[in-house]
Amino acid sequence: MFETLQAAPTDKILALIGLYRADPRAGKVDLGVGVYKDSDGRTPVMCAVREAEKRLLQDQDSKTYLGLAGDLAFNAAMTKLVFGEAGDPARIRTAQAPGGSGALRLVAELIQRSRPGASVWMSSPTWPNHAPIMRGAGLKTRDYPYFDARSGTVSFDAMLDALGKAEPGDVVLLHGCCHNPTGANLDAAQWAAVADLLAHKHLLPFIDIAYQGFGEGLDADAEGLRIVAARVPEMLVAASCSKNFAVYRDRVGAAMVMAGDSAQADIAMSQMLAAARTLYSMPPDHGAAAVRIVLEDPALRADWESELEDMRQRMLRLRVAFAEALRRQSNSDRFDFIAEHRGMFSRLGLTEHQVERLRDEHAVYMVGDSRINVAGLPEDRLDDLAKAIVSVLD
Ligand code: LMR
Repeated sequence: MFETLQAAPTDKILALIGLYRADPRAGKVDLGVGVYKDSDGRTPVMCAVREAEKRLLQDQDSKTYLGLAGDLAFNAAMTKLVFGEAGDPARIRTAQAPGGSGALRLVAELIQRSRPGASVWMSSPTWPNHAPIMRGAGLKTRDYPYFDARSGTVSFDAMLDALGKAEPGDVVLLHGCCHNPTGANLDAAQWAAVADLLAHKHLLPFIDIAYQGFGEGLDADAEGLRIVAARVPEMLVAASCSKNFAVYRDRVGAAMVMAGDSAQADIAMSQMLAAARTLYSMPPDHGAAAVRIVLEDPALRADWESELEDMRQRMLRLRVAFAEALRRQSNSDRFDFIAEHRGMFSRLGLTEHQVERLRDEHAVYMVGDSRINVAGLPEDRLDDLAKAIVSVLD
């Protein structure tokens, strides 16, 4: 059976976890996988989540099946967290999913059931797992330009130009906030222009929101999504709680569909759940139940929001301090964009070879396209790190 099988290529982001762990050098720096770290380099369980888990352990009296959509109260709380007051609740349906990746796949399956082989347009660059997930569901992928590496900003005219060539019924995948891997984001006016184009050209928006609260704040990070929701008849959303609730390994996410009317929303939801039944049947409960407890309890929710805000502020401080260190060490403004970007990532604009040299010569780990996880920056050694980066530049 397996004698002709070739080994699957390793995932470039996840492979870094193992490479970093195996490196014995003291002072190694992990700017790889997108996991929040505190100033001690730890990824702690958030206090509100820990408290919610205690309550769950105490109060949970059964582990019987919940059903294909998972925890319905979690789904309602997530819909509110993401959409706020935007979008018509009668037209939105939400299914709990195993993480943001599970939500992406569930939505992709719904697209495939509605329009087999549809084209999904995605930003160039995007998170490397987007295209495999879409293709895994049988969809086609197309690219739209997104990032101008020289200025570190969004190539907005080129993006609109490319999307203007999409066919009615094509799907457009957008990062809700904190673009992964570039850290360059659309502003409100750009979101409105994109939303108008989508509505005018009958394109279906599919918004991946995996870092809500990491950029400008919980509501501000959902503003673009909400602008789109107010201007289009139909849209799709994949949301993740991995980062903003730090429940990475518990796999907590939500797949959302907004349809033209309530009856169509019910049909779309039934298809999403039928797809879930064949993929994994029901989502894991524990993490979603903890998130639901946090979101429903005003005191716990306030604790969570304040801890999340501290994390966001820390990343902003690190951005500014690192841009300053790079300015000092390089005598140039080449890396100033780092302070302007938002979210967990920025791309430094190094070659793969330079990234390898940083790993081999300085024990600095980042993704091959020179994406850094800002939360991994060592606060007390930013100038050393900047010096190492400058040393591989030519
Ligand atoms: C990342 O981009 O590093 C994270 O989303 C983790 C992952 O699954 O790739």
